[in-house]
Amino acid sequence: MTGKIIGLGSYLPDKILTNDDLAGIVETSDEWITERTGIKQRHISDHNTERPSQMVVKAALEAVADAGIDPKDIDLIVSASTTSDVLFPTLSTTIHKALDVSEDCGCFDVNSACPGWVAAFNTAQSFIESGNAKLVLVAGAECTSNYVDWEDRGSCILFGDGAGCAVLQACEGKKNEFLMRSSGKRSGCLFCENARQPYRKDEEGFEGLTHFNMNGREVFKFAVTEVPAIIKDLAARYNFSLDEIDYFILHQANARIIEATAKKLKMPIERFPMNIQYTGNTSSASIPMLLKEMKSDGRLVRGQKLIIASFGAGLTWDANYIIY
Ligand code: COA
Repeated sequence: MTGKIIGLGSYLPDKILTNDDLAGIVETSDEWITERTGIKQRHISDHNTERPSQMVVKAALEAVADAGIDPKDIDLIVSASTTSDVLFPTLSTTIHKALDVSEDCGCFDVNSACPGWVAAFNTAQSFIESGNAKLVLVAGAECTSNYVDWEDRGSCILFGDGAGCAVLQACEGKKNEFLMRSSGKRSGCLFCENARQPYRKDEEGFEGLTHFNMNGREVFKFAVTEVPAIIKDLAARYNFSLDEIDYFILHQANARIIEATAKKLKMPIERFPMNIQYTGNTSSASIPMLLKEMKSDGRLVRGQKLIIASFGAGLTWDANYIIY
């Protein structure tokens, strides 16, 4: 038993922030950002109409329409976000309410930073394989622009906002095969401390702002080392050849990370689709958004073999082998 992806949806905010726009905020240039990251622009959400809890509903509605299902039949919703506008209730219950899903549906969120959607996907697959769910909505939504440090040119240039969703349906087939890895001791190279709400606002030490911190070079080294390694290990564990893979769907963090991974795996770069040029790094939304785009433009077709691989804060990283 496996969960087949039968519907995909995504949402990108209307407002576009180009590299030239960024050059008016921090000391940088279109040339530098393009050369180091492949990013030309990113979308920034409107605080009133495009919060994660609003974007995720738009993506979910599109995924449900694409799947052609009645939302009442969904029996589990799992959402991923690290930058949600709501601490609780969960994004999953926000979707539950908007789509008027039945009360027999379970809802919860997972937080695993950029690999969050993959963690949610693997959780959903486990529910399906164990017979505990048949129709699952897996969502990722991020408003990174609320959390990045807009004075730090080494990190604010990378991120963007958006949401993506997939509907998984239980059916006969090869089970979801995956590896997940973590290195908590390397957490210091990418973290964001939450704002604290003190008992008294004049309390000593009150900052009132989240604190985003990234060592770009370390994260880059981590990604170009661990992502190719975990993909090779996945192929060895589940006994398939990378030559069989139609597409390597990697978390869209930096075009150079994706190019380095292709090179290390000795695979043609054409098999590594990218939309980072116009989305930036949308964290947990990046993979479902890319899958949706590929389905819409006809690149993604039934029967294709895919590797999905993500990485990010934690540090955590993963790789999945699925047949679409
Ligand atoms: N514009 C212009 N110059 C910049 C800049 C910017 N936006 N950001 C940094 N620089 C400067 C640095 O100050 C440094 O100058 P110096 O040599 O005078 O000290 C120089 O460019 C090189 O900086 P460095 O950090 O070594 O650049 P880099 O090639 O490693 O690229 C990143 C920086 C952030 C683009 C890159 O390290 C990266 O993408 N890392 C991965 C981050 C990531 O993906 N995080 C999310 C994971 S989910």
